[in-house]
Amino acid sequence: MEAMKAGDIDWRAGRTPLYVFRATDSAAEIGQAAFNRFFTENALGGKRAFLSVGRMEREVIDMALDLFHAPGDADGHMTTGGSESIFMAVKAARDAHRAAGSKAGQQLNIVMPESAHPAFDKAAQAMEIEMRRVGLAQSRRADPAAMADAADARTMMMVASAPCFPFGVIDPVAEVAAVARERGIWLHVDACVGGYLIPFAKANGEDLPDFDFQVEGVRSISADLHKYGFCPKPASTVFFRDADDMARSAFDFDVWANGRFVTHTIAGTRPAGAVAGAWAVLNHLGREGYCAVARDLLKMARAYRAGIEAVEGLHMLAEPDLTILNFGADGFDIFAAADRMAAKGWLPGRTQDPRGLHLMLSMLHARAREAYLADLAEAVDAVRREGGASAAKAVY
Ligand SMILES: Cc1ncc(COP(=O)(O)O)c(C=O)c1O
Repeated sequence: MEAMKAGDIDWRAGRTPLYVFRATDSAAEIGQAAFNRFFTENALGGKRAFLSVGRMEREVIDMALDLFHAPGDADGHMTTGGSESIFMAVKAARDAHRAAGSKAGQQLNIVMPESAHPAFDKAAQAMEIEMRRVGLAQSRRADPAAMADAADARTMMMVASAPCFPFGVIDPVAEVAAVARERGIWLHVDACVGGYLIPFAKANGEDLPDFDFQVEGVRSISADLHKYGFCPKPASTVFFRDADDMARSAFDFDVWANGRFVTHTIAGTRPAGAVAGAWAVLNHLGREGYCAVARDLLKMARAYRAGIEAVEGLHMLAEPDLTILNFGADGFDIFAAADRMAAKGWLPGRTQDPRGLHLMLSMLHARAREAYLADLAEAVDAVRREGGASAAKAVY
């Protein structure tokens, strides 16, 4: 296995711009040890067999409900990732729309900014829901007026991202919520990236908008523990403003030999290790630890940004709110520079529209900054001097 790994990207050295996250080495070690301690148990049995796992899941959810200013009727559950959290929220919203009078078979739709994650399209495809991806404002944030124009009586959900993956900007949640409220449409906030980062950055004094249940009209929130919660994969959370909506995310069935089967996830069996890992990391870091990491992360992201902007010919494609940077080139093919970065052992994150390079930073990238920026400057300089176009495609 070690030999097979030889061709893998060196993530420990910060050479991949996505897929892995780190706060501190001790948080990673504690998460891994907790995961291993519950390696065999199954979170599906958290209510009957492995009560400790059920208790830890409850405590993780309660900590997050508090973090997201949830009202008394709110509830949530853990899932195996952002895509699953989004799937369950879409299912709940669809069933709420049906409960309010739309008929099965009616073509429902979701209105969202074009920067939102394809997990919504995946859910929509499975549930035969029409997707309406709406153009962005100049800031590359959601355009609430354009979203209002795209919505109709069959709109079962609107989406705002906090932040969106491509550009790293937080959509104007309050403005989108005002539209959704006026029309009686369910608003989901996809905080898969920022859910466990924004509250702590705000506590540190960063000027960031409200994105959670504090905003009237936000009916569900997805937030990934395995991204900026720094918990072992696979772990995410999804929350509902009221318990009836949470009940709609469930699959509740008993027409088979073994009796009642209730799950709030697509998965049946789930790794108890991920629950234990999340519980351990949340308790280990605590508010203070997360605030410290948020401070370090934003400082590092600003240093990356300054270094990128110091390279002649590069500019940010959006004004980043947190730790995702997307930048483009003036008058040369940035993918050609990306190819040169790949040849030096960096996995390039490419965006296709507009053509750019993309970084989702964690503390793994702290040590890599100088080397990355030096290689980037060299690659850009070479392409500017020698020209060249890349045939590479952006791949997520
Ligand atoms: C904004 C956003 N939402 C949802 C997801 C999906 O998360 P997952 O890969 O855990 O399914 C991602 C993943 O990067 C994301 O960036």
